[in-house]
Amino acid sequence: MKLTKMLTATAMGLCFLPALSFAADGAAAYKAKCAMCHGAEGQGKVGPALKATSLSADQIMALITTGDDSKKPPHKKPVNGLSPDDAKAVADYIKTLK
Ligand code: HEC
Repeated sequence: MKLTKMLTATAMGLCFLPALSFAADGAAAYKAKCAMCHGAEGQGKVGPALKATSLSADQIMALITTGDDSKKPPHKKPVNGLSPDDAKAVADYIKTLK
Protein backbone atom coordinates (compact mmCIF):
# COMPACT_ATOMS: atom_id res chain seq x y z
CA MET A 1 0.00 0.00 0.00
CA LYS A 2 2.68 2.46 1.05
CA LEU A 3 4.93 1.33 -1.74
CA THR A 4 2.17 1.76 -4.31
CA LYS A 5 1.56 5.28 -3.11
CA MET A 6 5.23 6.09 -3.34
CA LEU A 7 5.49 4.67 -6.83
CA THR A 8 2.47 6.61 -7.96
CA ALA A 9 3.87 9.82 -6.52
CA THR A 10 7.23 9.20 -8.18
CA ALA A 11 5.66 8.44 -11.53
CA MET A 12 3.60 11.60 -11.35
CA GLY A 13 6.68 13.60 -10.42
CA LEU A 14 8.54 12.22 -13.39
CA CYS A 15 5.72 13.18 -15.72
CA PHE A 16 5.67 16.78 -14.55
CA LEU A 17 9.40 17.42 -14.23
CA PRO A 18 10.30 17.56 -17.93
CA ALA A 19 7.46 19.96 -18.64
CA LEU A 20 8.64 22.23 -15.84
CA SER A 21 12.30 22.21 -16.74
CA PHE A 22 11.84 22.77 -20.48
CA ALA A 23 9.04 25.29 -20.53
CA ALA A 24 10.67 28.67 -21.05
CA ASP A 25 9.13 31.11 -18.62
CA GLY A 26 8.49 34.32 -20.52
CA ALA A 27 7.48 36.34 -17.47
CA ALA A 28 10.61 35.35 -15.54
CA ALA A 29 12.89 35.99 -18.51
CA TYR A 30 11.22 39.36 -19.09
CA LYS A 31 11.79 40.33 -15.44
CA ALA A 32 15.42 39.24 -15.59
CA LYS A 33 16.37 40.72 -18.97
CA CYS A 34 13.95 43.48 -19.97
CA ALA A 35 12.05 44.91 -16.99
CA MET A 36 14.90 47.15 -15.82
CA CYS A 37 14.60 49.16 -19.03
CA HIS A 38 11.02 48.56 -20.15
CA GLY A 39 9.31 48.51 -16.73
CA ALA A 40 7.85 45.61 -14.76
CA GLU A 41 4.51 45.95 -16.55
CA GLY A 42 5.98 46.99 -19.88
CA GLN A 43 4.98 50.58 -19.13
CA GLY A 44 8.34 51.91 -20.31
CA LYS A 45 11.33 53.34 -18.44
CA VAL A 46 14.67 53.98 -20.18
CA GLY A 47 13.23 52.01 -23.07
CA PRO A 48 9.84 52.65 -24.69
CA ALA A 49 6.63 51.07 -23.38
CA LEU A 50 6.12 47.59 -24.76
CA LYS A 51 2.58 46.94 -23.60
CA ALA A 52 0.07 47.18 -26.41
CA THR A 53 2.99 47.37 -28.87
CA SER A 54 2.09 47.27 -32.54
CA LEU A 55 5.03 44.92 -33.14
CA SER A 56 4.19 41.25 -33.62
CA ALA A 57 5.66 38.55 -31.40
CA ASP A 58 7.84 37.53 -34.37
CA GLN A 59 9.18 41.06 -34.78
CA ILE A 60 9.97 41.30 -31.06
CA MET A 61 11.67 37.93 -31.22
CA ALA A 62 13.74 38.98 -34.24
CA LEU A 63 14.85 42.17 -32.51
CA ILE A 64 16.02 40.44 -29.35
CA THR A 65 17.63 37.42 -31.02
CA THR A 66 19.43 39.14 -33.92
CA GLY A 67 19.46 42.82 -33.03
CA ASP A 68 18.74 45.63 -35.49
CA ASP A 69 21.45 48.03 -36.63
CA SER A 70 18.94 50.85 -37.12
CA LYS A 71 17.97 50.73 -33.42
CA LYS A 72 19.64 52.50 -30.53
CA PRO A 73 21.64 50.47 -28.00
CA PRO A 74 21.17 47.96 -26.53
CA HIS A 75 19.20 46.63 -29.51
CA LYS A 76 21.86 46.96 -32.16
CA LYS A 77 22.98 43.62 -30.76
CA PRO A 78 21.07 40.51 -29.65
CA VAL A 79 20.08 40.47 -25.98
CA ASN A 80 22.66 38.34 -24.15
CA GLY A 81 21.78 35.04 -22.54
CA LEU A 82 18.42 34.42 -24.18
CA SER A 83 17.89 31.10 -25.94
CA PRO A 84 15.53 31.12 -28.94
CA ASP A 85 12.93 29.44 -26.70
CA ASP A 86 13.33 32.18 -24.08
CA ALA A 87 13.06 34.85 -26.77
CA LYS A 88 9.83 33.31 -28.08
CA ALA A 89 8.44 33.06 -24.54
CA VAL A 90 9.37 36.68 -23.79
CA ALA A 91 7.80 37.90 -27.05
CA ASP A 92 4.59 35.98 -26.31
CA TYR A 93 4.60 37.36 -22.77
CA ILE A 94 4.95 40.95 -24.02
CA LYS A 95 1.93 40.43 -26.27
CA THR A 96 -0.11 39.61 -23.13
CA LEU A 97 0.76 42.96 -21.47
CA LYS A 98 -2.09 45.44 -21.66
C1 HEC B 1 19.56 48.55 -21.31
C2 HEC B 1 18.15 48.83 -21.46
C3 HEC B 1 17.30 47.86 -22.26
C4 HEC B 1 17.14 46.51 -22.07
C5 HEC B 1 17.83 45.63 -21.04
C6 HEC B 1 16.16 46.06 -23.04
N1 HEC B 1 15.75 47.11 -23.82
FE1 HEC B 1 14.42 47.04 -25.32
N2 HEC B 1 14.77 48.99 -25.77
C7 HEC B 1 15.61 49.83 -25.05
C8 HEC B 1 15.68 51.13 -25.73
C9 HEC B 1 16.51 52.32 -25.28
C10 HEC B 1 14.85 51.02 -26.88
C11 HEC B 1 14.61 52.07 -27.97
C12 HEC B 1 15.55 51.77 -29.11
C13 HEC B 1 15.34 52.71 -30.28
O1 HEC B 1 14.41 53.53 -30.26
O2 HEC B 1 16.09 52.58 -31.26
C14 HEC B 1 14.28 49.67 -26.86
C15 HEC B 1 13.40 49.19 -27.81
C16 HEC B 1 12.79 47.95 -27.75
C17 HEC B 1 11.78 47.48 -28.67
C18 HEC B 1 11.19 48.26 -29.83
C19 HEC B 1 10.00 49.02 -29.34
C20 HEC B 1 9.33 49.79 -30.44
O3 HEC B 1 8.16 50.17 -30.22
O4 HEC B 1 9.95 50.03 -31.49
C21 HEC B 1 11.43 46.22 -28.28
C22 HEC B 1 10.38 45.30 -28.90
C23 HEC B 1 12.25 45.89 -27.12
N3 HEC B 1 13.05 46.96 -26.84
C24 HEC B 1 12.18 44.70 -26.46
C25 HEC B 1 13.04 44.34 -25.43
C26 HEC B 1 13.04 43.05 -24.81
C27 HEC B 1 12.07 41.93 -25.13
C28 HEC B 1 14.04 43.05 -23.90
C29 HEC B 1 14.47 41.91 -22.99
C30 HEC B 1 14.80 40.66 -23.66
C31 HEC B 1 14.66 44.35 -23.93
N4 HEC B 1 14.03 45.11 -24.88
C32 HEC B 1 15.72 44.75 -23.13
C33 HEC B 1 16.28 49.50 -23.89
C34 HEC B 1 16.42 48.23 -23.38
